[in-house]
Amino acid sequence: MSRASFPEGFVWGVSTSAYQIEGAASADGRGPSIWDTFSTGQGDACGHYHRYREDVRLMRDLGMAAYRFSVSWPRVLPEGTGKANEAGLDFYDRLVDELLAAGIAPYATLYHWDLPQALEDRGGWPERDTAYRFADYAAAVHARLGDRVRTWFTVNEPWVAAFLGYGSGIHAPGRRSAADAFRAAHHLLLGHGLAARVMREAGARDIGAVLNFTPVMTPAQVRDPGRALSDEDAEAVARIDALVHRQFLEPMLRGAYPADLLPVVERHAGLGHLRDGDLDAIAQPLELLGVNYYTPSVVQAQPSEPADPAFPGSEGVLFCTVPTAVTAMGWPIVPDALPPLLRRLTREYPGLELMITENGADFADTVTPDGIHDVERARFVEEHVRALHAAVEEGADVRGYLVWTLLDNLEWADGYQRKFGLVHVDFTTQRRRLKDSALWYRDLVRRNGLPESRPKRPTLETVAARAGVSRATVSRVVNGEASVSPEVRAEVMRAVRELGYVPNAAARSLVTRRTDSVALVLSMPAQGGDTLVSAVVQYVTSVLEAAGKSITLMLADTAESHRRVTAHVEAGLADGVVLLPPERPGPLTERLARTGVPMVLLGRPPVASLVPYVDVDHAGGAAAATRHLLATGRRGIGMLCGPMDLPATQERIVGYREAALAAGLQPVVVPADGTPGSGAAAATRLLDDHPGLDAIVAASDRLAAGALRAARDAGRLVPGDLAVTGFGDGDVASATTPALTTVRVPVADQALALARLLLSRMEGRHTSSVVLPVRLVVRGSTG
Ligand code: FCB
Repeated sequence: MSRASFPEGFVWGVSTSAYQIEGAASADGRGPSIWDTFSTGQGDACGHYHRYREDVRLMRDLGMAAYRFSVSWPRVLPEGTGKANEAGLDFYDRLVDELLAAGIAPYATLYHWDLPQALEDRGGWPERDTAYRFADYAAAVHARLGDRVRTWFTVNEPWVAAFLGYGSGIHAPGRRSAADAFRAAHHLLLGHGLAARVMREAGARDIGAVLNFTPVMTPAQVRDPGRALSDEDAEAVARIDALVHRQFLEPMLRGAYPADLLPVVERHAGLGHLRDGDLDAIAQPLELLGVNYYTPSVVQAQPSEPADPAFPGSEGVLFCTVPTAVTAMGWPIVPDALPPLLRRLTREYPGLELMITENGADFADTVTPDGIHDVERARFVEEHVRALHAAVEEGADVRGYLVWTLLDNLEWADGYQRKFGLVHVDFTTQRRRLKDSALWYRDLVRRNGLPESRPKRPTLETVAARAGVSRATVSRVVNGEASVSPEVRAEVMRAVRELGYVPNAAARSLVTRRTDSVALVLSMPAQGGDTLVSAVVQYVTSVLEAAGKSITLMLADTAESHRRVTAHVEAGLADGVVLLPPERPGPLTERLARTGVPMVLLGRPPVASLVPYVDVDHAGGAAAATRHLLATGRRGIGMLCGPMDLPATQERIVGYREAALAAGLQPVVVPADGTPGSGAAAATRLLDDHPGLDAIVAASDRLAAGALRAARDAGRLVPGDLAVTGFGDGDVASATTPALTTVRVPVADQALALARLLLSRMEGRHTSSVVLPVRLVVRGSTG
């Protein structure tokens, strides 16, 4: 078979970062970093500080040519500045020696987000001085390792450090200020330039920076990359591209900020922090640009959309979730976005070598007696390497590819639940185990390439033929049955690996009667179609299908259909059940629960039940809406709510009542049946009975649309005389006049959580219910 080979000398390897694997947070004089403060009690990560020899051995056995690690600034300078801590530097000294002895090229990243807390206490990255301290630190590390490390990366993903750390606050140090985020970005750039300059002067050969790339596209372009855009969408795409990509690329590589970005910076942070000479300092000659690619940003123009705090200046841009296959992180898998990105970089910045410094995937793994068959992770890497190959063939100047990551590790704010490793880590024993993806990657590295095209999906028969056993034996092995001898098992597993076989329903059901099929049961709400339900159906289906399950959609709207659904599940035709939304008090949940088949619910059920569910923080959302009205000066606030027998309604009332009472207001609640018409009638009643009201909290967007109509009919101006909030942020919210301030319910996240909850139940793990946070989206209806 012909192979998709890479150029001679193409570098294959893996990437890690200090905070995520080292542990030993106070060993040998290390000081605290902002991540130790931000997420305390995170444990010892992978204990790599003491196990680095074993980890280097693993990489050598996998044939890695390069290893990108990061140096921990607080290990080298516990106070961020001053005299270097020799014991901290000694660790990297040993690591580099170990790597070189194993024939692995060390690539050092100087800043992978672990700022010394002492420097954060002095203002952190929004302070100019931090950039100079960074250059001092770079000089100290280079002085110790520069004789053996040839490839240096200054900063990793400065956009993330600045805008998630100081803008949205979901990363350390957790600040929320657009001004600080823009200042931090500039000082990270300046730090990069100053560090590159001192290292160059000290003789460093190959210097680069690592940026995060999320090619910006519209939902239509995800399916059809060549799709032409409307002017509005093109403008939305360009704005996000400037914030995430050009804000960093242009100063580093061309010595100028993008002209379309400067007004945004000025509006949020002024321009006082950009000093004369900074851009010259930033634009140091570089040999290499590190490209981290995981997933695109999918956006479209949406006039009433408020800015996302991680993207200051993104007013009028909606970040969309698209129903493609996703990783467990919820990130859409779009390998096709990689070649255009690489072509663009090669075209716009000629002469610069590129390297994929991170690419990889989080998928839940199952440890079986035969190993960890993480077919999805291997497939993810394969698809991206194939896309990369196409780009290289077309002339993109890419010199290497590094998988994120070697080990399952501590994934920042998400803790240990994320599994990006080629190697499984048991965090109680620190035992390392190679996953199938590691072995698969080792083979790719040996071949320096991939088979030209993906062979036809292997079947149970192909595996049986290759291993010289019967189909039933293969089935027994993939189902982990004990009745097969170790030799035969090993033979079958070798065939499984070599062929890249994914055990499917046929293999499973032959022995265990597992069907790998999931029943998605819809007990439709009284008023028919619901945008939340249809979106959830779409996402749950795509996630479960990506995990190899087939879906049977079943309606449960009558007593007869309840019987049919129960009989289907009792007959063993489903391995799992997703029920949405929770039915009104009725026996279906309990009848299905009694079958013992793993089940999950969308929404907390009205009757207490042991069945786990995924829901959102209804009370928190209603309280946030009420508090927002209070903060904008409203003093007479009533509530319109939907059917009282639904838990969601009850919880929204609780949130509203508590916030109103806390402000010394008397709560007033008027129920409606949920349609806009009933909302208008109930709002008219509410306004007639309480003429002093100047705000209405509606428990859904549809009710809120009714309230807007009632206000208009009563001659009251919105938001001047009356403010209105909704709940849900469905299509209605931005279509009303004025557009609705409403509580956004994370639809895709709920679907992902449901699918994950079900998958872990199906694997026999104990998992409890999930309640997701909501966010208030402020628009015109509240002024
Ligand atoms: C990148 C980070 C890396 C890891 C992966 C999943 O943004 O550089 O540390 O968190 O994402």
